[in-house]
Amino acid sequence: MKLVLVVLLGCCFIGQLTNTQLVYKLKKIECLVNRTRVSNVSCHVKAINWNLAVVNMDCFMIVPLHNPIIRMQVFTKDYSNQYKPFLVDVKIRICEVIERRNFIPYGVIMWKLFKRYTNVNHSCPFSGHLIARDGFLDTSLLPPFPQGFYQVSLVVTDTNSTSTDYVGTMKFFLQAMEHIKSKKTHNLVHN
Ligand SMILES: *[C@@H]1O[C@H](CO)[C@@H](O)[C@H](O)[C@H]1NC(C)=O
Ligand SMILES: *[C@@H]1O[C@H](CO)[C@@H](O)[C@H](O)[C@H]1NC(C)=O
Ligand SMILES: *[C@@H]1O[C@H](CO)[C@@H](O)[C@H](O)[C@H]1NC(C)=O
Ligand SMILES: *[C@@H]1O[C@H](CO)[C@@H](O)[C@H](O)[C@H]1NC(C)=O
Repeated sequence: MKLVLVVLLGCCFIGQLTNTQLVYKLKKIECLVNRTRVSNVSCHVKAINWNLAVVNMDCFMIVPLHNPIIRMQVFTKDYSNQYKPFLVDVKIRICEVIERRNFIPYGVIMWKLFKRYTNVNHSCPFSGHLIARDGFLDTSLLPPFPQGFYQVSLVVTDTNSTSTDYVGTMKFFLQAMEHIKSKKTHNLVHN
């Protein structure tokens, strides 16, 4: 009997935990580029509400990207406000992911985001005006990170048979946090 009770309570407790909804809210974005390859760069984060902010980006590729490698690193802010490496440091050959010759998990997630929010929704090469609109990180696409502040850095290089050139860096600053209910809902609950 006691065991059954413990198991039942355990289930409720786990239920409670998973009921807390996690969101990844973008706070800021920084874009740096190799100006001989990329021009007219703009990147902005627009806050929509307490839980959601979206990213809009534009740039012009002077030199087309033929075989880009995206190094994705995740950093988390520790108690002393310093960003420290956090679990993820991968090199993604995105053309191979798009051509389904490579199934590296973070590459597959990135390709899903590209298809949803950008005009980089086709096979390589990538040239001309690249656009991202109203992009955000859907929690269902990512593993549940502990609550806190993160930086996701994407460093893009392009390779051909003879050389590897730096193209640019995007740094996304985001907060993994519990979904904030609107004030209205709180009032309704209290009244
Ligand atoms: C870059 O932006 C300037 C000013 O908005 C515009 O005149 C120019 O045509 C743009 N160049 C490219 C290559 O998009
Ligand atoms: C790619 O995105 C552009 C711009 O959003 C859209 O017009 C086009 O239909 C998309 N192509 C594919 C193959 O999804
Ligand atoms: C490789 O890239 C370099 C630098 O961008 C360029 O000078 C060279 O012509 C390229 N080689 C080939 C084979 O495309
Ligand atoms: C920027 O790109 C040019 C042209 O591909 C290349 O020659 C140069 O080395 C790159 N700059 C850096 C810092 O990699």
